[in-house]
Amino acid sequence: MPPPGVTFLTHLTLKVFSKPVVLGFGVHYVSKCMGFSTPVWTTVLLSVGSLLLYIFYRVVQEGARQRKDANALGARLAPTAPGKWPGNLDFLRMLIHNRAHGYPGKWPGNLDFLRMLIHNRAHGYPADGFTELLPDVGPVMNTRVLWTDAILTVWPEHIKIILASDFNNYVKGERFQSNVGSVLGVGVFNADGEMWKFHRNITRPFFSRDKISHFDIFDSHASDVIRIMKDRMRGGYSIDFEALEMKGDIEAETLLDELLNSTSDPKVLKDETLNILLAGRDTTMHTTTMVVYFLSMYPDTCARLRDEVLTHVGPTRRPTYDDIKNMRYLRAVINESLRLYPSVPFNTRESIKATTWPSPDPAQKPIYIPAGTKVPYSVFIMHRLKDLWGPDAEEFSPDRFLDERLKKYLINNPFQFLPFNGGPRICLGQQFAYNEMSFMLIRLLQSFSSFSLDQAACSQEGQPPAEWAAAPGRKGIDKFRPKAHFTMYSEGGMWIKAADAEAEN
Ligand code: HEM
Ligand SMILES: *[C@@H]1O[C@H](CO)[C@@H](O)[C@H](O)[C@H]1NC(C)=O
Ligand SMILES: *[C@@H]1O[C@H](CO)[C@@H](O)[C@H](O)[C@H]1NC(C)=O
Ligand SMILES: *[C@@H]1O[C@H](CO)[C@@H](O)[C@H](O)[C@H]1NC(C)=O
Repeated sequence: MPPPGVTFLTHLTLKVFSKPVVLGFGVHYVSKCMGFSTPVWTTVLLSVGSLLLYIFYRVVQEGARQRKDANALGARLAPTAPGKWPGNLDFLRMLIHNRAHGYPGKWPGNLDFLRMLIHNRAHGYPADGFTELLPDVGPVMNTRVLWTDAILTVWPEHIKIILASDFNNYVKGERFQSNVGSVLGVGVFNADGEMWKFHRNITRPFFSRDKISHFDIFDSHASDVIRIMKDRMRGGYSIDFEALEMKGDIEAETLLDELLNSTSDPKVLKDETLNILLAGRDTTMHTTTMVVYFLSMYPDTCARLRDEVLTHVGPTRRPTYDDIKNMRYLRAVINESLRLYPSVPFNTRESIKATTWPSPDPAQKPIYIPAGTKVPYSVFIMHRLKDLWGPDAEEFSPDRFLDERLKKYLINNPFQFLPFNGGPRICLGQQFAYNEMSFMLIRLLQSFSSFSLDQAACSQEGQPPAEWAAAPGRKGIDKFRPKAHFTMYSEGGMWIKAADAEAEN
């Protein structure tokens, strides 16, 4: 599967350049048949000219249509990122003026914005480029690369509309499917509409309450991980926890058994299994890795969590479902890790009909969302907004899920914390994942008394660039290199050492 960026660029190039190239060749060919010879430069001029005319026509036409529609709905157009020119009324005017007014888009069509996105994806910290724009542009912006609307929001009310209250007006869309479809086929994770309902229906039984406690499987996985870790620690080495966690996951066999009750179509069985493994494996692995990372960064949190483990479960007993349910600090630590480094940091949907979203600034008109528009949203950015979480939003503080901050910020605004999505498409594996991760973490804390980071063991490309240290917030604090394709991971792995709990006594 080519990276989504490449697919996107190919798609874009074909879309934009196919018309003028066809026209150019057409003119060339027809004139040749008719007996004249057109010089190459005429063909090129015609092609370039027609490309510009075509873009100009489409942009002006679509702009006029949207303004009319927005007016009829009593709404305004979304602010364009990064320009200060909402609406882009006049193409020529924008071309001339964007140089002076655009930030940081100084190229026509916001192409430099696209360049920045691609660059940041490879070299930057997640959301670099957007974070800087938020104070100026606000929590919703139209990136409008090559005059194509894509209205990004990080505002809980909008995300709630997309995922829950107006669920039927948003789909994952064809692009999502073509990006992941070649590997996954069609299953619960990427289907839309009636197809999705069918797949959701046949997978649900696997996650019913009595099945989510697959504790035998969890225990054999945890024993493997701990045995390997102890071996490495005895040799004085560190270990890549990210890679180690990857080795064990939901037993595909258990899943297949379950699915066989609903269907015997081999293609459905294969695609569905792939869908669920994709949705469940990297996400859980990443989150457990992040918890272990934070335990190594914050020894006080680690000591307190270990205390909870020893109080509730003791040093050797196998944890039960009820143990896990009663360990509030453990859940708060997992939640805080999911808040700062959610496994799915960026996601996207596509609108079906034109609609409006309430303005984050109540003094302004609602925001117009045209039909068939991409609406990307980022829980990664939302989870760090000081407006929503308070001044310490960038700090690792599990207690925010337990103390007065819970009431002050979260209780009345549950859509500001969305590591598992919300609404009808909420993660099917949420309970399963909390159980699996909690089980692993309890076993780890029974076996090891503390963790430390060994970033030096990580390869060069996994080292955070030196200049990050001066950045505000987590970018300046954290000592690994987060990257996001669809799910987040730590580039080069997560190298840690752990102190054997037995050696301590
Ligand atoms: C910490 C662990 C996990 C996180 C953070 C997580 C997060 C998410 C998110 C954000 C989505 C929504 C994706 C979208 O709609 O675009 C999702 C969907 C889904 N997840 Fe999870 N997930 C986790 C673990 C699991 C596990 C362990 C399983 C299965 C064993 C699982 C199964 C699914 C399925 C089947 C869907 C698709 C639901 C649908 O579209 O109807 N997840 N997950
Ligand atoms: C969902 O599954 C149940 C049985 O488990 C079945 O009765 C129902 O018709 C299914 N619904 C859809 C939409 O497939
Ligand atoms: C499949 O269905 C049968 C009969 O309803 C049931 O006994 C069995 O437990 C189901 N299989 C699984 C794995 O749940
Ligand atoms: C953790 O987050 C989940 C939502 O994903 C919530 O249901 C739960 O109450 C939270 N628990 C704690 C202790 O933070």
